[in-house]
Amino acid sequence: MQVGIDKMSFFSPQHYIDMVDLAHARGEEPDKYLIGIGQTQQAVAPATQDVVTMGANAADQMLTQTDREEIEEVIFATESGVDQSKSAAVYVQKLLGINRYARTIELKQACYSGTYGLMQARDYVTLHPEAKVLVIASDIARYGLNTGGEVTQGAGAVAMLVTANPTIATLNQDSVFMSDEIMDFWRPNDSSTAVVDGKFSANIYRDFFKELWDRYRAQTSRDLNSFKALVFHLPFTKMGLKALRDVLPEVSEEKQNALLTSFEASRHYNKQIGNLYTGSAYLSLMSLLLNDDTLQAGDDLALFSYGSGAEGELFSLTLQANYNQGLITNQLPELLEQRTQLSISEYEQMFASVVQGSTNRALDITHDHAKFVLSGVQDQKRQYVEQF
Ligand code: HMG
Repeated sequence: MQVGIDKMSFFSPQHYIDMVDLAHARGEEPDKYLIGIGQTQQAVAPATQDVVTMGANAADQMLTQTDREEIEEVIFATESGVDQSKSAAVYVQKLLGINRYARTIELKQACYSGTYGLMQARDYVTLHPEAKVLVIASDIARYGLNTGGEVTQGAGAVAMLVTANPTIATLNQDSVFMSDEIMDFWRPNDSSTAVVDGKFSANIYRDFFKELWDRYRAQTSRDLNSFKALVFHLPFTKMGLKALRDVLPEVSEEKQNALLTSFEASRHYNKQIGNLYTGSAYLSLMSLLLNDDTLQAGDDLALFSYGSGAEGELFSLTLQANYNQGLITNQLPELLEQRTQLSISEYEQMFASVVQGSTNRALDITHDHAKFVLSGVQDQKRQYVEQF
């Protein structure tokens, strides 16, 4: 029996900034951001969106009533959670009308935990072939105004339904993974912004990828020619390109060009959204599936997941015959088209308007067109509203 991703869906807030505007405001050359970092736009979350609402907004678009009745586990991966005790998965279970006999859990290990959630889902479904597991990877990447990491912020959520005989792709049992205690990026409990040793983190990312790639090759006897495309965690899209370039010399020029072309497809949406931490590799997978028209059923894809701190995993997926039917094909183009551009000063105000630390605060939700929004905090309890 094959197990894998049956459906995927995405959500990101309705505001964005242009990286040329940000470069001008920060006194940088626009090409540093556009080419050197590889980002053109950045999603900006208003106070009315958090990881719970974004996760619910992503998953809601793909779930049928039957799915909601049959889901056995909700696994919520995030590193920008809203509570130290209560899991975001319990909130989304209620918002989405998922049955009360589902297990709910929140996972954390920087950007890596979405992959752990996916593998847990795969293993659960392998043991319980009738089961459906909902995996949500949702985050708001915040480094702070005027910081080196600012150009790599972003926000959004990817939702995946894991089942037997999946529509999109099977998750093959060939993972290699590793962990090492490294201070490249972290966020202390009392801080709403991440602390990062930027260049060190990029070097560790490449080291982990190379070590896992060598281990994967040794364990599976497969090489780059085995794959139609490599999908990467994309904290900024140049990062994946650097890792890919590290291994490209292993294959012919023709294969190198094919892999680079697929890479362009896989970073198309990430360039416009920014880092969404746990969901970034899976947004990149969606981007590949929706933008690479040379993909075919049976193609194998390799995916490299990296989370600072640090943990990495590399595994393969096999595309299924009607993989497009598991995606909402116009979802991302429509979402991007409907977004509103913010000036840098509007973004800076929005950035400062987080509800974290409030005991009582009402938010104006009239400008947020998403189905699920945060309307405020009452007695330290988050108030979630379904708008339509
Ligand atoms: P920086 O120091 O501002 O940038 O920070 P830089 O000086 O290194 O320049 C960046 C690139 O732009 C360079 O290219 C320059 O040459 C180029 P590279 O040498 O790297 O190929 N450049 C130009 N290109 C064209 N025209 C120009 C021009 N000027 C310069 N005019 C840094 C960059 C990424 C360090 C910073 O943004 C940062 O700290 N970001 C956050 C950390 C990060 O994303 N790390 C990635 C690996 S860790 C990870 O993936 C985990 C993470 O997602 C978190 C988690 O796990 O939870 C972050």
